[in-house]
Amino acid sequence: MERTFVMIKPDGVGRGLAGDVISRYEKRGLKLVALKMQHLTAAQAERHYGEHKGKSFYNELVSFITSGPSIQIVLEGKDAVAQVRKMHGATNCLDALPGTIRGDFGLSNQKNLVHASDSPETAAREIALYFEEDEIISYELPIAEWLR
Ligand code: CMP
Repeated sequence: MERTFVMIKPDGVGRGLAGDVISRYEKRGLKLVALKMQHLTAAQAERHYGEHKGKSFYNELVSFITSGPSIQIVLEGKDAVAQVRKMHGATNCLDALPGTIRGDFGLSNQKNLVHASDSPETAAREIALYFEEDEIISYELPIAEWLR
């Protein structure tokens, strides 16, 4: 099964939406296999968002993502990367369709509640930024046969 990395950003945690967001992944049929909450350091944020260095919004992005606690999650499931990107909606919440997490809860381009990997290769890189391999739990959901 494919893995993807998700982060519930400080605005998602601060607004009390973490439970709602996690519940959507579970209801969709994605399996939680790792989860932690931490207040990211600037060094962690810079490693995560290195590809955006030099862009006009980079400094603001680093300061936003380190402004409060965030939740790091690994999800497993069929086409997990693409499914989670669809569930999140467009990067700018104002362009995100109703029914998506950003379209239902957000109004901002930067404070867009959640981050998800954009490819399986990115997922592997981002998972390794936050989790040791032995922190990712292998188990079977009793409902697994319905999700294949
Ligand atoms: P994310 O999916 O975490 O990946 C990069 C982040 O940069 C993105 O979500 C937004 O939070 C942020 N971002 C992208 N474009 C802009 C922008 N034009 N202004 C402010 N923030 C942006």
